[in-house]
Amino acid sequence: MPATVVVGTQWGDEGKGKLTDLVARDMQLVVRYQGGHNAGHTLVVDGQSFALQLIPSGVLYDHITPVIGNGVVVDPVVMLAEIDTLESRGVDCSKLKVSGNAHLILPYHQELDRLIERHLGKNKLGTTKRGIGPTYADKASRVGLRVQDLLDPEIFREKLSAVLAEKNLVLAKVYNRLGFDADEMADRYLSEIAPRVAPYVADTVTLLHESLESGGNILLEGAQATFLDLDHGTYPFVTSSNPIAGGACVGAGIGPRYIDRVIGIAKAYVTRVGSGPMPTELLDETGDRIVDLGHEYGVNTKRRRRPGWFDAVMLRHAVRLNSLSELAITKLDILDTFDELKVCVAYDVDGVRHDHLPYHQSDLFKATPIYETFPGWNCDLSEVRDRSELPANAVTYLEFLQDQVGVPIGFVGTGPGRDQYLEFNS
Ligand code: IMP
Repeated sequence: MPATVVVGTQWGDEGKGKLTDLVARDMQLVVRYQGGHNAGHTLVVDGQSFALQLIPSGVLYDHITPVIGNGVVVDPVVMLAEIDTLESRGVDCSKLKVSGNAHLILPYHQELDRLIERHLGKNKLGTTKRGIGPTYADKASRVGLRVQDLLDPEIFREKLSAVLAEKNLVLAKVYNRLGFDADEMADRYLSEIAPRVAPYVADTVTLLHESLESGGNILLEGAQATFLDLDHGTYPFVTSSNPIAGGACVGAGIGPRYIDRVIGIAKAYVTRVGSGPMPTELLDETGDRIVDLGHEYGVNTKRRRRPGWFDAVMLRHAVRLNSLSELAITKLDILDTFDELKVCVAYDVDGVRHDHLPYHQSDLFKATPIYETFPGWNCDLSEVRDRSELPANAVTYLEFLQDQVGVPIGFVGTGPGRDQYLEFNS
């Protein structure tokens, strides 16, 4: 079992943190491979809740080396603040490694993220405004600064002053804003931030390969999710990286032959934050109940998530895109009090049935869900730890999801705690 990928199969917030934490027990390294602090993973350990943004979930285990891979975009100020918070709560972060090739999110990226969204007006994407898109754009344009540049003051100053010359022009001429002072920013980053980041910087590709070569197991932790993928999601309402399992190879620096297990995480219903198509969206009281019971508000941004019924059409596509070997269904307990549950099995687009995701996104905007309806179980699942304790209606619901999607369900989450889960096909 050299490398396992944990990937979100919907629009994010599927509860990947908890599942990663469970699977991580048998791993030596846990690696974030894309995204940045736009992610928010909540873990509840011994009654204490930890909200992680950038640091891999494995940090809570003493035996694990948490790794921020080359594909991640790193705001070093946020990284240090997260380390400080974790350490103040007794979590040792000294083993953390961050790739020298990871790109830096700098203040102008966040400023541009905000301004671009404002400029888009009603067409805005609803980004997290953390600077993710502008940082990946600079990476692709080859004007980004990387974590390793913090270790070379001369290079850092040179690159920063070249890039700010252009950014400041854009800020002034397009957005009528004041620019940033390159010397001031370089002084601050080199004196206050670089010395604190330096101990964590590593050649993470070599680290991963040395571990794999000596029989180690690696967990590749995706952030965001399949339908927020830059290439395969609902573009442009996506993030600027590749959360799908294939992205793990690029963002961590390992070849695909090492990956032998891909766990897709899906909530027992769906949510989405920000704009974009969502065929099963519930704009009624049922949706409000899901939001209330599931506490469906962003961990970091506090935004209300859009709720909807489970969408098997999306999931079938996620199985294909990620080569999922199994599914983990999270937050089943949130549906405990519903008399009736629906699962979308296909879409109707202008009178034509689609069992698979329509190729053209205009069709996705027009898609009307075709539902199958199930009776709820009307009892509390929070103490259930074994499949045999599940009410018959919950088993029927889960078996239906599994049949619709075509891969077995492994874990089922029944509450936020580390121990609140069962194995469905053990
Ligand atoms: P960005 O990643 O901040 O550029 O935002 C792009 C889109 O991805 C927006 O619709 C965000 O709401 C969404 N997004 C980014 N990160 C997450 C996440 O961790 N969970 C859910 N949605 C996210």
